[in-house]
Amino acid sequence: MVRQSSLVVVANRLPLDDNAAPDGACEWRRSPGGLTSALHTILEQTPATWVGWAGGLGPAPALPDIGSLRIRPVALSETELRGYYEGFANSTLWPLYHDAVEPPVFDRDWWETYQAVNVRFAQATAEVAEAGAAVWVQDYHLSLVPRYLRALRPDLLIGFFLHVPFPPPELFMQLPRRIELLRGMLGADLVGFQRPQAAHNVAQLAAKLLAAQSTDDQITLADGRQVRTGAFPVSIDVAEMQSLARRPSVVTRARQLRRDLGEPRRVLLSVDRLDYTKGIEHRLTAYSELLRDGRIKVRDTVVVQVAVPSRERVDSYRALRDRIEGEVGRINGEYGRVGEAAIHYLNQPFDRAELAALYRTADVMVVTPLRDGMNLVAKEFVAAREDGAGALVLSEFAGAADELQDAFLVNPHDVDGLKDTLLRAMRAEPADLRARMGAMREHLRGHDIIAWARAYLTALDDSGRLANQLPLAGGPKARGAAAKARAIIPRSRSVARRRPPA
Ligand code: ADP
Ligand code: F6P
Repeated sequence: MVRQSSLVVVANRLPLDDNAAPDGACEWRRSPGGLTSALHTILEQTPATWVGWAGGLGPAPALPDIGSLRIRPVALSETELRGYYEGFANSTLWPLYHDAVEPPVFDRDWWETYQAVNVRFAQATAEVAEAGAAVWVQDYHLSLVPRYLRALRPDLLIGFFLHVPFPPPELFMQLPRRIELLRGMLGADLVGFQRPQAAHNVAQLAAKLLAAQSTDDQITLADGRQVRTGAFPVSIDVAEMQSLARRPSVVTRARQLRRDLGEPRRVLLSVDRLDYTKGIEHRLTAYSELLRDGRIKVRDTVVVQVAVPSRERVDSYRALRDRIEGEVGRINGEYGRVGEAAIHYLNQPFDRAELAALYRTADVMVVTPLRDGMNLVAKEFVAAREDGAGALVLSEFAGAADELQDAFLVNPHDVDGLKDTLLRAMRAEPADLRARMGAMREHLRGHDIIAWARAYLTALDDSGRLANQLPLAGGPKARGAAAKARAIIPRSRSVARRRPPA
């Protein structure tokens, strides 16, 4: 018999992966991506079901519960992975929604597959949702699920949250299937975004394409159904990052990292998925020009660029990797010396403790996306700086810039401005940095991931029924989860490896 839940979260990815721990167990997957990072904390402690793709190809594996969380895997075939995930989601919608910084690809066959996979997610969700349940659909991969689900199960309360930006109407209008896509999302009762501008864009489009009556917080469709919209900026597990950064082993590791880097005066750090939206090339140009102009020296200033592999079978990602690795090689070749690299480039995933140590090591955290829904890395850096030191250089095109106003805000397209800002951050007085960091940390304390989920779920259902299932913000349950770094499931029941064969 199918077990049903009163809260169902639907996301492309499940938080599980066959990570092959030394003891043969499989760990919670903390995939390098904002969505699973964000939802992990909340769901680990909430009675709910997570519907998602288990990362492999072919039939979905049977997966056990994880704590109070039930897992409902959805299968994808090789053709579906190409058409739905790599194609329509990540070669059409992803670039289109990120200001078309890479040209979006419009391929008619992908649309068919995207629809079919969204139907499958909706059907799986309909099976596991109990009568009157709340369903929270996540992100651009599943834009059509709210509408399909409403048709299957009109009794459900349906929320949709978009983790990425929603583009201005003039860009969205390029999408051949714009009407279906908009209708799909607006199948929800509540559509949440990272920034208020996104809700404004959708309101304009609903009026234009669907003849809806819209304001920035409510859309009344032609059939009279009402959809609420709003901004709910996502956040991180602040308690977890703080407790990690405080660990003596992490503090020691941070000191060690600094020694390994040759005790430079300034360490500049960036941590990104290797994605063309992250502005990695722009910051390499800025750094290289600062070296060329003699405004900084390799011995004094070292760059650490963590760029974790991402979507590696998509052409634009492969091409980006080649360009970046070529440029890193050129800069190191031109400005490095034996034992003194200009850039330490790390194309690998790290565990949370190592990330915390890296954050503690940095004098300047450089976050320069050309467009980003939020950017959780910026928030993680702030949460990790228990010592109150360190500077954050942050692109004004990241959602996080709305909240972290005490960062050194920058337009990454303006390379001269970026160079000047990097120097300002490197040379800032410790008292100035402390004041900025203090203000940003204060903001994060009141706006962690649990506060985000609470705000969204309360807006979805103001009886408090859903929000009351969540752990308390920064409270004992949250700290307990932080201490418990992983949940073990038996290896024999673990899922197929995440990355399909190239
Ligand atoms: P996006 O959602 O576009 O990937 P975010 O900055 O919002 O960008 O989220 C990235 C998440 O991935 C963060 O939680 C970050 O800690 C994690 N991450 C980034 N790089 C790595 C890495 N090399 N290893 C493990 N996790 C990583
Ligand atoms: O934040 C946007 C997003 O697509 C998330 O949905 C996901 O967590 C992250 O980027 C990583 O992407 P992917 O799931 O394609 O590895």
